[in-house]
Amino acid sequence: MAIMEIVKHPSDVLRQKAEPVRKVNAAIRRILDDMAETMYEAHGVGLAGNQVGIARRLVVIDVGDGLLKLINPEIVRRSGEIVEDTEGCLSIPGWQGEVPRDKAVQMRATLPNGRTAWFDAEDLFARAIQHEIDHLDGVLFLDRASSVYEVTPADAAAGEESQETEADGAQTAASTPGES
Ligand code: NI
Repeated sequence: MAIMEIVKHPSDVLRQKAEPVRKVNAAIRRILDDMAETMYEAHGVGLAGNQVGIARRLVVIDVGDGLLKLINPEIVRRSGEIVEDTEGCLSIPGWQGEVPRDKAVQMRATLPNGRTAWFDAEDLFARAIQHEIDHLDGVLFLDRASSVYEVTPADAAAGEESQETEADGAQTAASTPGES
């Protein structure tokens, strides 16, 4: 496995709509493995293909319940109950925002073994899914946030101490952001 470089905003690939993966093969599984290693190394809770410069519909997520490697993830149902919470993003270091999202979603995705799986997600897991699938559509949390603000490294460190969850863009109920 290998650590990949995380693309930072502003970058064209972060604004691209990622292409679906047609065939799940060893190369795709290897990219997902590298994305997972990269996410953990960056203390994130999620990472999308665009964020490592690969505009394919690939996502890794771990909000504390174990690693998920997802191919062509799609939201198939939204709760319609909107909740606002703090998010950060590994591609937008030093910034956070308050972002309204559906409290719960149902997601369908292909797994690395080629099988299709459905997930019922709530709260942080649901938020991370929405944040990552937005990445695949070229959408950043900045686009949806009701407010965006700069955070100092000291703020971020305090947050990490009080909550160990960090992902690409999602965060915990306690108001500590994770980055995805
Ligand atoms: Ni992100």
